[in-house]
Amino acid sequence: MALNTEFTAAFEGAIAQLKHDGVYKRLNYLESPQAARVHMEGRGEVLILSSNNYLGLSNEPSVVQAGIEGLHAFGAGTGSVRFICGTFTVHRELEAALARFVGTPAALSYVSCWNANEGLTATIAEEGDFVVSDALNHASIIDSIRLAKAITKCTTAVYKHGDLDALREKLAANARARRRVIWTDGVFSMEGSIAKLPELLQIARDTNSILVVDDSHSTGVLGATGRGTAEHFGVVGEVDVITSTLGKALGGAAGGFVAGGTALCDMLTQRSRPQLFSNALPPTVAASALASVQYLEAHPERVERLRENAQYFRRAITEAGFNPLPGETPIVPIIIGETAHAIRMSEMLLDEGIFVTGFGFPVVPQGTARLRCQISAAHTKDDLDYAVRAISGVARRVGLQK
Ligand SMILES: Cc1ncc(COP(=O)(O)O)c(C=O)c1O
Repeated sequence: MALNTEFTAAFEGAIAQLKHDGVYKRLNYLESPQAARVHMEGRGEVLILSSNNYLGLSNEPSVVQAGIEGLHAFGAGTGSVRFICGTFTVHRELEAALARFVGTPAALSYVSCWNANEGLTATIAEEGDFVVSDALNHASIIDSIRLAKAITKCTTAVYKHGDLDALREKLAANARARRRVIWTDGVFSMEGSIAKLPELLQIARDTNSILVVDDSHSTGVLGATGRGTAEHFGVVGEVDVITSTLGKALGGAAGGFVAGGTALCDMLTQRSRPQLFSNALPPTVAASALASVQYLEAHPERVERLRENAQYFRRAITEAGFNPLPGETPIVPIIIGETAHAIRMSEMLLDEGIFVTGFGFPVVPQGTARLRCQISAAHTKDDLDYAVRAISGVARRVGLQK
């Protein structure tokens, strides 16, 4: 039987339009492990300035070795969802390590933080509850809240990014809700800015609301020992619920988790749909993630190196005449302005052997297109100097700098 040609043609047309509009995402294939410098198919050695491998643990020998040993000990996969027969002892070990690391009584792992977030809101909210979200929260939080609204009929709202008065107003307008939940990113990924956690905690306490923080860009990054946004502000143990990823600083493979009270994690095991209807984190990945946490506990100096590298790059790129968004995180967005310039610069930089993604409208507001640089502890000062020189050279060629 013939395929539906109309269906195929519709997607061919849509893809052609994306290419015409200059917003088509081309995939670049790597032939070597994720690291400061990688081998990119067809291009050779490339310096990566757009990876979430913040601590360089993706290729850390003990982390890789733990995955190999996990493969031998537990095999290639879980073969089932968690509650049927897909739970392995390495999951328990990983979850205990994650809870210890972020400072909560318990943690529950998922195949991604996307899944962790997705399953959370509908488990903790029900009809008559109110969920409020920062306007710049990650897509997984947005979708989690949309899904919770559809499933539970809870009430939802969005407050202007970082606007605590707007948040207070929304909470006050929903004072009769049975439970009120505030969702925020710990670090906002497009801006590199940090949530005002102490103030958010105060609002949560004043209004008897639950604070949920997605620490995906903070775990392993913020705080003297990488324990995240709460450590950065000296409030470890005070956030009601933390979610985070294993796919960034903690080895960069895949996986995510919810950390909070023991009964909450138990209830997520009972009720959260990605737990109930999707296979668990592969044991090899759990073993690598566990080794990443253990590595980080033994080597907090990695976090310090990340911080030094980020400060060094911020200073150097500013001295070179650019205007990065101010901040303390290793996400350093260099504002270029026009979307076409940012995308063109990103392509030209790849020709120079530097992989850094350009983001434009509508991902970021009109006129604030940017090169989002992400710094890693794995970068050397030479890498960072090379990147600054190359970005300056390309900016001159597109007429943005003299
Ligand atoms: C804030 C935030 N939350 C969640 C995710 C999803 O993480 P994962 O890759 O584990 O699904 C990301 C990844 O980009 C993120 O930046």
